[in-house]
Amino acid sequence: MEKFKNKKDLSTHVKVLKAQGSTIGFVPTMGALHFGHLTLVTKGLRENDIVVVSVFVNPTQFDNEEDLVKYPRTLEADIELLKTVSKDKIIVYAPSDKDIYGNTIESEVFTFDGLEFEMEGAFRHGHFDGVGTIIKRLFEIVTPDAAYFGEKDFQQLQIIKKLVELHHLPVKIVGCSIHRAEDGLAMSSRNTRLSPEHREIAPTIYNTLKSAKDKFSTKSAKEVSDWVTKQFREQPLLELEYFIIADVATLKPVKQKSLDIHKENRKYRAFIAVYAGDVRLIDNIALN
Ligand code: PAJ
Repeated sequence: MEKFKNKKDLSTHVKVLKAQGSTIGFVPTMGALHFGHLTLVTKGLRENDIVVVSVFVNPTQFDNEEDLVKYPRTLEADIELLKTVSKDKIIVYAPSDKDIYGNTIESEVFTFDGLEFEMEGAFRHGHFDGVGTIIKRLFEIVTPDAAYFGEKDFQQLQIIKKLVELHHLPVKIVGCSIHRAEDGLAMSSRNTRLSPEHREIAPTIYNTLKSAKDKFSTKSAKEVSDWVTKQFREQPLLELEYFIIADVATLKPVKQKSLDIHKENRKYRAFIAVYAGDVRLIDNIALN
């Protein structure tokens, strides 16, 4: 498996591959890879000749220094896991902070038509400026034909689509469905930090989302939100940060839903963020 630490070497290599007629898929990650990441890589390999996987814990998207410091870094294990998918069609790009940011670790400031003010944007200050900065830079370095993002971070996926649209970036963005553990917990690099008791209770998050989806066919967004809030109030191991039913296109909270949500063009989705101890978990579900 080819590995690069330096953007110039990677760019040169990709240029040669493209000149030979290869198409390039791209899966940006922060490492600590799990099967959720692998579903993106597998899809990328089905649709492209080569897939570049970047492994970079991007400092500018963390609003919490402790979260950045504690973020798991497991590059050797990540490479071994990627080898189980393909030994010759995956390229790993694992740069240093300096290779990406030079001497100034700073975000650019972006607007994303208001998508950046909702949910994760409201609760994690500067987060999407950091994500926009790193993804725009990585696209310039990797020059992929297509890039793969998980619906696990649905708001991020919508923001990347907006980034590409507003900045006319020549890359196709492909969304991939959420990969879950058998008990329903959405796979996440942060799951390894859960204590055994938090890991055991964590599937409550997805179970609550599924019940919320059932309820939303007959109840209002407010009634469903109140019900979810009550469920978490009764569960001392999990602390609800937000539960929001939003319009998929604007990500704005839904105030008034239509009478028959299944006959409508408008798409609704429920989004949740929960603390399990000091580990912050997010998840979401399509409602119609
Ligand atoms: P990271 O959390 O490592 O996730 C990398 C990609 O994997 C994202 O597109 C994410 O949505 C996807 N992913 C994570 N868990 C998943 C799951 N259970 N099912 C499906 N897809 C999943 O998201 C980031 O890194 C960063 O913000 C990044 C885009 C790399 C920018 O730094």
